[in-house]
Amino acid sequence: MSYAAVLGYGTVGSGTVEFFRKNKAAIEKRAGQPFNIKYVLDTRDLRGTEAESLAVTDFSVIENDPEVTVVAEVIGGATFAYDFAKRAIKAGKSLITSNKELVATKGAELLKLANENGVHFSFEASVGGGIPVIRPIKQCLSTDVLQSVSGILNGTTNYILTRMENDSITFQQALKQAQDLGYAERDPSADVLGHDTCRKICILASLAFGRQVYPESVSTAGIDKITLDDIRQADKDGYKIKLLGAAKRVEDGVSVITAPFLVPKSNQLANVGDVFNAVLLEGESTGDVMFYGRGAGKMPTASAVASDMVNAVKTNADRSAPLPWVDSGSQAFVKPWQSGTSGNILTLE
Ligand code: HSE
Repeated sequence: MSYAAVLGYGTVGSGTVEFFRKNKAAIEKRAGQPFNIKYVLDTRDLRGTEAESLAVTDFSVIENDPEVTVVAEVIGGATFAYDFAKRAIKAGKSLITSNKELVATKGAELLKLANENGVHFSFEASVGGGIPVIRPIKQCLSTDVLQSVSGILNGTTNYILTRMENDSITFQQALKQAQDLGYAERDPSADVLGHDTCRKICILASLAFGRQVYPESVSTAGIDKITLDDIRQADKDGYKIKLLGAAKRVEDGVSVITAPFLVPKSNQLANVGDVFNAVLLEGESTGDVMFYGRGAGKMPTASAVASDMVNAVKTNADRSAPLPWVDSGSQAFVKPWQSGTSGNILTLE
């Protein structure tokens, strides 16, 4: 019998509790043992919710309970989440997170701490919502030399751009719809200004190139200055406007950027619409590999959290092979991105 705790009962936390209820049989079959959520930590009153009987407000209850072997952190941010993550790992519990900010800013440190404490630190849900992309890079592509990684990494902004383009509605109307559908961050400026995409490309670049790429070293622009006129002009010229995170191996380091790009309509990324995300990898031997799916939303993201939780109780295999990201112990040298531009929008080559 194994038990887990979920930190945070927002969109992803409530989705994870729901996912465990709906998929109990499959979860326990894959885990090879009974496996359930024992606690849900939140400062809010959870009476009347599905988590009512699991609610705690004091993290030390979880920290000191030897029956809890897996902690899923879905609070967001890098203050409380960072403190709880370190304490959980030091208490010998595997740490699963969907928190992009935490992984992008503290990933190398937490991976090292997890290795020292013999537990998992897994973050499949931090990039691409329900799309399996972290584990394929870590495992299936681990022996190839990756040359570039890029993609549409934010569901909210892709939804907004798609709605503006297809329905000729304003930016604000489209943002409201994305918020109502549960795609946006609590503070949607992280989506709109490109910070969420930046954190995700930093995580992918760190995995792909084996050095931590920190968000503050990446030039970042969002879609807040994109107008309906920009979208119409791009359409006439044969392009779609997409917010991309992009990283490529260059001499002596990596180049990483977050910006709106003019993407030729013939490019695979041009047809990725609505809340969908796509990640395009280029391997020296593998060539192009593309991942596509729902990049945001309650249940797709909860599914990725739950599968990391099950993996943590099921196997020790992938924690015994530390990521190169940890071994190198050093920061990537990030060089400026070279690209053609059209006004404030880059052109995808
Ligand atoms: N706000 C994020 C997005 C959620 O829209 O993609 C998933 O990380």
